[in-house]
Amino acid sequence: MRKNILAGNWKMNLSENEAIQLAKEVSEINMSNVEVIIFPPVIYIPSIAKLGLNLKFGAQNFYPKDKGAFTGEISINQLKDAGISYVLIGHSERRTILKEDNEFLKEKVNAALELDIHVIFCCGEELKIREQGVENEFVKSQLEESLFHLTGDQLKNITIAYEPIWAIGTGLTASKEQAEAMHLYIRETLAQKYTKDLAAEISILYGGSCNPSNASELFACPNVDGGLIGGAALKSTDFNSIANSF
Ligand code: PGA
Repeated sequence: MRKNILAGNWKMNLSENEAIQLAKEVSEINMSNVEVIIFPPVIYIPSIAKLGLNLKFGAQNFYPKDKGAFTGEISINQLKDAGISYVLIGHSERRTILKEDNEFLKEKVNAALELDIHVIFCCGEELKIREQGVENEFVKSQLEESLFHLTGDQLKNITIAYEPIWAIGTGLTASKEQAEAMHLYIRETLAQKYTKDLAAEISILYGGSCNPSNASELFACPNVDGGLIGGAALKSTDFNSIANSF
């Protein structure tokens, strides 16, 4: 059975004290029904790791080389030393602002899996793609070009997050019908490439202005297995109430 997952992407927010306080509060969430993972700003990861909380955490970014002359970058093995067990790859902010393309994301996926780091792989279309009615083909090509070289065993270490770009940080949310349709399409695409059984094991999260008032109806969709939360992950009360929406 696939897991319910709730991931909080803190992006480039919070001071160190705020991050520590929020991590402590999030660790008190009842996790019997859901796996909770936080993605703090990288500089606060060691301080959060030192707290020894009952809480999984990961990195929002890394550079897919072991070591070397890559000024300002950080490798996945350095992050693993700091205690992470998850990474985000393919977030739309990195695709659009930092110009990361499908080929580069494939390298990142390989580097993470090589060190047994679980990947949350983000995909999703811009509004103009949806308006043209080609969002399925667009998302399929993101999966094909960055993930479909993996074996079935490797794919088990991937969680997919569908994040329509037009819904990220905008207050616009995909309707439950739009979310379910895309999640089902992603699962069917995985089933075609791999097997139906394997596709049924992969958690597919929704991201994009998910909040305490819309989480229940989104998570009730049969193919929505949780959320990747940005803005609403910065307040423990909101994040807690989203965690109680399964
Ligand atoms: P949002 O961000 O919840 O603020 O829309 C989601 C994300 O970018 O992961």
